[in-house]
Amino acid sequence: MSETSEERVLAGRTVLVAGATGGIGEGVTRALLRQGARVVAAGRDEERLARLAAYVGDTGPGTLVTEVMDVGDADGSGVRDRLAVFGALDGVVITIGDWGNPERTGILDTSSEEWERMIAANLTSHFHTLRTLTPLLKKDGALVHLSGFSAEIPYPFAALVGATNAAKKSLVRSLTAELDGSGPKIYELVIGPIRTRPRAAIGADNPGWFSAEDLGRHATRLIAGDGPYAEAPLQYLITRAQGVRTSPPQ
Ligand SMILES: NC(=O)c1ccc[n+]([C@@H]2O[C@H](COP(=O)([O-])OP(=O)(O)OC[C@H]3O[C@@H](n4cnc5c(N)ncnc54)[C@H](OP(=O)(O)O)[C@@H]3O)[C@@H](O)[C@H]2O)c1
Repeated sequence: MSETSEERVLAGRTVLVAGATGGIGEGVTRALLRQGARVVAAGRDEERLARLAAYVGDTGPGTLVTEVMDVGDADGSGVRDRLAVFGALDGVVITIGDWGNPERTGILDTSSEEWERMIAANLTSHFHTLRTLTPLLKKDGALVHLSGFSAEIPYPFAALVGATNAAKKSLVRSLTAELDGSGPKIYELVIGPIRTRPRAAIGADNPGWFSAEDLGRHATRLIAGDGPYAEAPLQYLITRAQGVRTSPPQ
C-alpha cells in the first residue's frame, strides 16, 4: 500500500465519502484526494465538515466538496437531488457508523431503547444509505462498505456492535449477489481496529493496525478497478501483518 505519484489513478473521478467527518472517513478522504479524486464529503453537521476541510487542508491534487446531508435518511430524494449536480459517481465509500454506548453492557442488561437505537443508527442507516447511493453510481463504478471484524466473532459486552456488523455484512453481500455483476461493483471490507486520530487521542493506537489512510488507498485501487483484489467482493483487513485476505484469518 505504498503511495507514489504514479498512483494518482482517480484523476477526473468523483467519489462520495459517506461519514467523511469520522476517524476513518477523514483518512479515507485524504487518501482519495492524494489520488486526484474529486471527493464529495457527506456529513450531517456543518461544523464537523468544516473541521474535516481544515484537516485535509490543501491535500491534493484532488478537490474537496463538502455536503451537509443525512445519507442514512429513509427518504433519499433530498440526497439524490443534491448529488445530481455531480453526475453519476465513480465511487462511494461508506464509513458511517455508531460505536454504541461506551459503557460496556451485557446482553441481558441491554435496554430495549438501546437495542432500537443501535439498530437504527448502525443498521437501518446503512440500509438507507445503500438504497439511496448505489443507483447513483456509474455501471462500472464501485461501492466500498466497511464492517468490523466483530461481525465474525463473539463480542461480549458490545454485542449490538457485533450483531449490527454481522447484519451489515450480510446486507452488503446480498446486494452483491442481487446485482450479479450487472451493476457497480460492491465491496465489503471486514476490518480490524483502525488507526484513526480520534482513537489515538484516547490511547487506542498500534502500528500493527491498518490506518484510515491505508483503507483509503485500498479503496482507491478498488474504485480504479485495478490491483489484485478488484474481483474479490469480500475482503478482510484485520492487521498489517495478515495483509488483505479474502477469507477470515484464523
Ligand atoms: N475505527 C475503527 O477502529 C473501526 C474498527 C472496526 C469497525 N469500525 C466501524 O467503521 C465505522 C467508522 O468508524 P469510525 O471510527 O470512523 O467512527 P466515527 O469516528 O464515529 O465516525 C463515524 C461517522 O459516521 C457518521 N454517522 C454516524 N452515525 C450515522 C448515521 N446514523 N447516519 C449517517 N451518518 C452517521 C458520523 O458523521 P456525522 O455525524 O458528521 O454525519 C461520524 O463522523 C463504524 O461503523 C465503526 O463501527 C471502525
